[in-house]
Amino acid sequence: MPSMPSPHARISAVPSHVAIIMDGNGRWARARGLPRIEGHRRGADAVRRMLRAAGEAGVRYVTIFSFSSENWRRSTAEVDDLMGLLRLYLRSEIAELHRSGIRVRVIGDRKPLPQDIVDLIHGAEERTRNNQALDLIVALNYGARGEIVDAARRLADDVVAGRVALSEIDEDAFAGYLSTAGIPDPDLLIRTSGEQRLSNFLLWQMAYAELVFIDVLWPDFDRDHFDAAMLEYGRRERRYGASVG
Ligand code: IPE
Ligand code: IPE
Ligand code: MG
Repeated sequence: MPSMPSPHARISAVPSHVAIIMDGNGRWARARGLPRIEGHRRGADAVRRMLRAAGEAGVRYVTIFSFSSENWRRSTAEVDDLMGLLRLYLRSEIAELHRSGIRVRVIGDRKPLPQDIVDLIHGAEERTRNNQALDLIVALNYGARGEIVDAARRLADDVVAGRVALSEIDEDAFAGYLSTAGIPDPDLLIRTSGEQRLSNFLLWQMAYAELVFIDVLWPDFDRDHFDAAMLEYGRRERRYGASVG
């Protein structure tokens, strides 16, 4: 079973990869009588705080869910606002991320995104590609089922073309077709806002992630919440199917 990190139970310490479902921006704004975009704006501040905390804690990979492939179901006005914010963030934050040694990588289907955003993403990835302090993976127009189907299609294409033999297909080979190829699976998933579901995020990759749900709206997420999630992670015993140690 090549995908199992260890056959033995082990007590976890600092997670190498933290995935975050940043949820609750809309409710944060509504509670204050503000437009939803204000919640998203304040949510961007929370991303900055979280990245600082993650870097200092020694986390090596952070994946954030920024826009799901299902979020197109929202009003045109909100989608436009979110794209506008993304554009702003890509223009104004990349220099700072680069200074902090952060490598940016975007996963998800870029094709439906506005062309200038696609160009900004490409520029951000190119500019930060040699950074080594922390990898920031931004899931944008991302959905896990779509990702898995796309991987299956490309793998089938390679089989039909004779580039891959059926006998070569195993979990590791399949994972190589996912958008996260080369990135270790998340150790810890944090979801804010009190919702307790995965909402089509990294379904394959989170087979053995520890799930931590925090009852705070994302714009209010701060270092204390991050540290609490890390502490909770440290208390978990990851067994990967082995017996209790
Ligand atoms: C998360 O906050 C941000 C995105 C999905 C883009 P929401 O906008 O989902 O906030 P709630 O869940 O409606 O409060
Ligand atoms: C998940 O949050 C997507 C992001 C955080 C970008 P949603 O708010 O869209 O998820 P549901 O609809 O509550 O499942
Ligand atoms: Mg939500």
